[in-house]
This record gives sequence, structure tokens and C-alpha cells, in this order.
Amino acid sequence: MNSGNFPTTRMRRNRKNNAIRNLVQENIVTVHDLVYPVFVVEGNNRREEIKSLPNQYRVSIDKLLDIAHECIELGISGIALFPMIETVKNEASMLDSFNPDGLIPRAIKALKSNYPELLVFTDIALDGYTHDGHDGVSDNGDVLNDLTVDLLIKQAICHAHSGADFVCPSDMMDGRIVKIRKALDNSGFINVGIMAYSAKYASSLYGPFRDATGAMSKLGVQGKKTYQMNPANVEEALHEVALDINEGADIVMVKPGTLYLDVLYRVRTMFKKPTAIYHVSGEYAMLKFAAQSGIIDYNRAIIETMLSFKRAGANIIWTYSAIDIAKLLNHRYNL
Ligand code: PBG
Repeated sequence: MNSGNFPTTRMRRNRKNNAIRNLVQENIVTVHDLVYPVFVVEGNNRREEIKSLPNQYRVSIDKLLDIAHECIELGISGIALFPMIETVKNEASMLDSFNPDGLIPRAIKALKSNYPELLVFTDIALDGYTHDGHDGVSDNGDVLNDLTVDLLIKQAICHAHSGADFVCPSDMMDGRIVKIRKALDNSGFINVGIMAYSAKYASSLYGPFRDATGAMSKLGVQGKKTYQMNPANVEEALHEVALDINEGADIVMVKPGTLYLDVLYRVRTMFKKPTAIYHVSGEYAMLKFAAQSGIIDYNRAIIETMLSFKRAGANIIWTYSAIDIAKLLNHRYNL
């Protein structure tokens, strides 16, 4: 063998040290890509760790403001709010989903009056307010589409009125985006955006979230499969995204993240719309518990996960690791 000519291409030259690796790097994750999901509870000075989500807390609004401050300092773009409603787990509590003095509207107002530049994304769905944990009004486990949409519209208007930047329907009812867009416009909220959970799968990875919001147990045998998507399908996801874009979604989302990179890639490539990915509670928990067992290096694994999202085409990443990642990036972390 003639060692002078072999091999003709040496890929390793561009991997020699950090500096050259950085120069040829194709994708980057920045703090500005990140949105931090936070669970809010009533009360004062409350900060309770969620057992299934190590290092994540249910916080009262005063503590939420501390988190918002940290996000601003780190350069994180926004916060996504989820309610943990303790007192109301009966049918009547659905009224709370659009109560202007409710927990989420007060949280939005507190955030926007203290940190107007931090984007506030709110969840449009009823699971925090229903006795059975379904995202809509259920009749013996059958979630009623059109009746639910009527309530979602009220919830969206209520959040917009409180100052939300984006309302984010995560419920997967049919036709809700067009109805919410019209209602927002008719109420004068032309600048409130809609981030649609367009391709949301009926995933096994939402367990810790449901633990965090208390919506765990009573979903029934079909769970949320009558409205969330079958993990086997991808063409259906493209159809869902097309519908939501036509109905007026400003940003579309694929959820969960790591197991659905093919969906993310196709959605971004096909529609060329701002596309978000949600690195969900179960994905976060898997990394955290594996790291606690000493099996993987959390810092490397989380950056690697974020890069997979960027490679697949994500513009926006929702992740419980947002603060961890921002700290790593601000220290010029090299994977
Ligand atoms: C429900 C909602 C869920 C999540 C976000 N919004 C749970 C569900 O669909 O049951 C899950 C997020 C996560 O697991 O981190 N409106």
C-alpha cells in the first residue's frame, strides 16, 4: 500500500482541536432558542420539587418572578406556563380555565408587568381544570370536540387579555386554531400569536408532567388516543400541520422531541414555517435519572439532544433543561 496517497481524504484534519471543530460546526444551539416550561401554584413563597422531575418545582407567582429574572439574565427567550390547580378537580372547575382572576391570568400579568421583554406562552387546554385529566369536556371518556373548542376560545381570550404573547393550544381538538384566531382578532388581539401543538403524539413520555399537574389517574382505557396522534404515523402529522397553518397558526410544534426527529425534519422542510419542538417531561426525567445513576453525563447528553433538534430543523426548543443549558452555553461549553 502506498501510504503517501492513502487515504486521499482525511476527515480528521477538521476535528483536530476545539478551534477547528468550532469553525466547521454546522448547527449551533443558542440561549435564544430556548423556552422554559414552569408549573405554577397558588400561594406565597412556595417552591416544591416535583419528584418525577428532579430539580423542577411547582412555584407560587412570587417565586415565578425569580425564575423569570434568571431567564432574562441568561438570555432565555420565554417562559411557558402550566397550572397546578389543587382545589378544583371537579366538572365545575372548568370555569376556572377562563376566570380572569385565576392563577394563570395573574401569573401572566405579574410576568408582563415585571419583565415585559420575556415572552409568555400559555397552555390552551382543559386538563389542568378537569376532574379526569382530559384536555376537554368528556362524556364518559369521549372528549367532545366542539363544546371543548368553545371553552378553549374563552381561555385563549382570557390569556390574551392578561397579556400573553402566544397562546398555545395543546389539546388537539379539530378546528380550534381558526376559531381561536378569529376570536382573538374580533377582540382586538391581532398581535397575540398562536403556537399550535400541531403534531402532538399520544406518548408515554408525559407521565412526569401529569404528576406535576395532578392530572394523572382517571383518563380511562383509551387515554388521550382519541385526540392525540398515533406514534406510528407521520403523514398524518403533515396533514395536521397543514391544517393548523391554513387556520392561522404562527408557529407549529412537534411533540415529544427526541423520538420524533423525523417528524420535525419533515415538517420544517415541507412547510418552512417557524417550528418548535417540545423536549417533554419524560425525556428530561430519563436524562436526569440516568445521570443520577452515573450512567450518562447530563451536560453532554443535554447539549447533544439540543443539537439533534437544531439539525432536524427546530427554531424553538421548549425544555425543562433551559436554565441548565443556558448556563452551559454561557460558559462556552464544548460538547
Ligand atoms: C396537556 C399538556 C401535556 C403536556 C403539555 N400540555 C400533557 C398531556 O398531553 O397529557 C406534556 C408536556 C410534558 O410532558 O412535558 N395540555
